[in-house]
Amino acid sequence: MELHLYYAIALFGTIAAVFKFILYPAFFSPLAEIPNAHWSCCFSPIWIFWMRWTKQENSRIYELHLAKGPAIRLAPSLVSVNSYEDGLKKIYHGGFPKPEFYFNGFAVYGTDNLFTIKDNQTHSTQKKALSSCFTKSSVMSSQTARGSSRDILFNRVLPLIHKTATEDKPIEVMDLTYAYLLDTFVQWQFGRSLASNMVENEKERRFYFDGFLGVAEYTFWQYYFPRLVTMLQKFGVYLIPKSVQSAFEGVENWNLEKCDQAQQLLASGKQLSVDDQPVAFEPALKGMSEVNSKPKMYPHRLRLASDMFSLNSGAFETSGNTSTYLLYELSRHPEWQTKLREELLGLNPPLRHVPGKLVEVGDITNPQDIDKLPILQAVLMETLRLWPSVPGGQPRVVPRPCTLGGYHNIPVGTTVQSYASVLHRMPDVFPEPLNWKPERWLESSPEQLALMKKYFWGFGSGGRMCLGIHFAYYSIKYFFASVYSNFTTTIHDHGDMEASDGYLAGPKGHRLELKFHLVE
Ligand code: HEM
Ligand SMILES: *[C@@H]1O[C@H](CO)[C@@H](O)[C@H](O)[C@H]1NC(C)=O
Ligand SMILES: *[C@@H]1O[C@H](CO)[C@@H](O)[C@H](O)[C@H]1NC(C)=O
Ligand SMILES: *[C@@H]1O[C@H](CO)[C@@H](O)[C@H](O)[C@H]1NC(C)=O
Repeated sequence: MELHLYYAIALFGTIAAVFKFILYPAFFSPLAEIPNAHWSCCFSPIWIFWMRWTKQENSRIYELHLAKGPAIRLAPSLVSVNSYEDGLKKIYHGGFPKPEFYFNGFAVYGTDNLFTIKDNQTHSTQKKALSSCFTKSSVMSSQTARGSSRDILFNRVLPLIHKTATEDKPIEVMDLTYAYLLDTFVQWQFGRSLASNMVENEKERRFYFDGFLGVAEYTFWQYYFPRLVTMLQKFGVYLIPKSVQSAFEGVENWNLEKCDQAQQLLASGKQLSVDDQPVAFEPALKGMSEVNSKPKMYPHRLRLASDMFSLNSGAFETSGNTSTYLLYELSRHPEWQTKLREELLGLNPPLRHVPGKLVEVGDITNPQDIDKLPILQAVLMETLRLWPSVPGGQPRVVPRPCTLGGYHNIPVGTTVQSYASVLHRMPDVFPEPLNWKPERWLESSPEQLALMKKYFWGFGSGGRMCLGIHFAYYSIKYFFASVYSNFTTTIHDHGDMEASDGYLAGPKGHRLELKFHLVE
């Protein structure tokens, strides 16, 4: 009798498990209507993990959308959505919260930052504190930003480029653009007295970039199995090597010191010159608390440092990968260099580089005039489209049942995501999607252009859209405008220029060597 009861319980348990884990997801869940990426996707996430491990997620999901329509099921509770009205607009403008992925991949000092905060409400109050200095008009009119461009671009980067041009030597530009962008941002963020000098200081540069980028190889574990990483570490097994972790911690400490110093500077009550103002740090500090006079004891120290860290990494990595691809495309398309230079010669005053002469803020062409240049805008947009530095899925969690990609009743808790690498390559929106064609941004009909702008997703959209977009445009456009006013570029050598396949992306080979040639 008793034995029979055990059998009955075991049988019932098995049936329930089969129903819950196989029959329900495969046949009864509303998600069962959605085409599977692979037959196993309705039962198991193995397929998507395999795609990620073998680094072919973005390219496979692009093909799947072309073949199977606007929604694809990637795992039992994960759906890729590729449409505007029934996708981007609802998910990203509807304030769907972020999942754990962001915290796993991008939290620093073990604490949240603006990028990783999950919930809508907490996020939007904290974003408000920071966003005032990031608006287009704030960035464009910031005298501290202009001072930073003067010091770093005009008085360090251009003389360096000029020197290599006269010596006919190649220069590796991925590292150079990273250094330029990080220095420019850090000086604006913390003020001139705390600025970095990665452009000229090779030691500081290697410390920062090698430490920061060392972990990139291990993102699979960090993004998707962070608990496994911590658990195995207790047994002395390091999925992310110890030396890589401690190099990264070095960079964390570098940033934390800057924050402490900026806090002390503000707490000292000294009158700060325009150049010395910590433009991004100050409102962040104020937003969290009243300025506290005890250095190292100010509230939310690590939370604030986490924000500052994510800002300066956002500033050099995404913009640096974009700049590297734009240098690459222009070097492969000399006809676009010519068009760009003609446009740049119309600037008043032009962006002249005069060797040996220190530039003053007053000598520098207004950023508004540079921002308006249509050819510069077109080559940059086309690069952001074809080589997005955030091409991968941007996951969100469904907060209320909804219809996405034509499928109804998507259940609460489902993870849904869109991909810039898919949206940017829809052939009916961007004909010949795999070709770099800046003319599409200059010559398309107004209707087509409106469609292209809807599908352009280089900076995301909605409440979690990129905070740094205007700073990115500001720093990238100044660089390209001033370089191509005085130089042409040709390719000397490069590593694999194909974009890596993941949430983030850049040239796999990590190396682009160009020669700069003076034009009179
Ligand atoms: C070409 C340059 C850049 C590109 C392509 C880019 C792209 C993006 C994208 C796609 C997102 C949304 C990601 C997601 O939700 O999964 C994002 C968010 C963000 N970006 Fe950028 N970004 C760039 C430059 C910058 C710069 C210069 C900064 C700061 C100085 C910055 C700071 C941020 C922050 C703080 C967020 C999170 C915003 C939030 O959650 O509210 N980015 N960026
Ligand atoms: C998230 O916040 C935005 C405003 O920032 C609001 O429009 C949206 O409805 C909110 N979404 C949720 C799910 O709370
Ligand atoms: C830079 O370009 C300006 C404008 O074309 C030109 O007048 C100037 O001579 C150039 N400077 C150098 C060093 O080539
Ligand atoms: C930039 O490119 C490198 C590969 O060259 C990649 O490892 C990194 O994740 C990329 N970063 C971003 C923010 O796209």
